[in-house]
Amino acid sequence: PKVAVIIVAAGSGQRLGYGLPKAQVPLGGRTILEYALQGAVESGVADRICVAVPAGDTALRAICARFHSPVPISTVDGGASRSESVRRALAGIGGGPGGVLVHDAARALTPPEVFRRVARALAGGASAVVPAVAVVDTIKTAAPSGPDQQQIAAEKVAGTPDRSLLRAVQTPQGFDAATLAEAHRNAAGLDPDGITDDAMLLETIGQEVFLVNGSPLSLKITSPLDLVVAEALLAGQQP
Ligand code: CTP
Ligand code: MG
Repeated sequence: PKVAVIIVAAGSGQRLGYGLPKAQVPLGGRTILEYALQGAVESGVADRICVAVPAGDTALRAICARFHSPVPISTVDGGASRSESVRRALAGIGGGPGGVLVHDAARALTPPEVFRRVARALAGGASAVVPAVAVVDTIKTAAPSGPDQQQIAAEKVAGTPDRSLLRAVQTPQGFDAATLAEAHRNAAGLDPDGITDDAMLLETIGQEVFLVNGSPLSLKITSPLDLVVAEALLAGQQP
């Protein structure tokens, strides 16, 4: 079964510092949004695509309007937070039964196979599926250091989670659309900046979230260094 695909592209790209909404930033002679759209379209899993763009934006809307796609691409005004943008795009896909994949435009180089892998697990009966990769760094939790330790450093280590249990999660994340919409309605009271992905909303209501293999190519273009890496990947060079 086909799924609806939401692409959230309404962020401002503060950390990239390009002076343009991130989805509009040039990449490989096109834009970040066009690469994200290409992955979704090439995967063949989408029956419709809805893109959340910055409120009032015309440039990204124009890109969507002229993008060559066999399936319809609609746009909605995004919100002040990623989760609000997802909520608005969920309204934009028009409800109905079936699955939805929620993808970050910033993960512009995500291989079509990752979309297919997520959609396959949804079709297999999961109501939430997340692509993930193993964590290579040792991750520590931090806490403020004591008042008498401030001259050493502001923070100290609070703990070291077992790395073998940690996964870095990516997008597209796949959901039963009705379940995701309900989770977003329930989340209306939460701090929107604390909602960094959609799966966490389902975890809090006790839904199982399944993990499938992500890809190193799904890196989230966040900082100028990430843009250099993405350009190098497109040029076929090893970054
Ligand atoms: N996003 C969105 N609406 C928002 C904020 C973010 O649709 N209000 C989208 C971004 O466009 C991006 C994805 O969510 O595709 C992940 O967000 P992030 O990488 O943080 O992008 P930005 O918010 O644009 O970047 P920054 O935080 O550096 O400003
Ligand atoms: Mg952001």
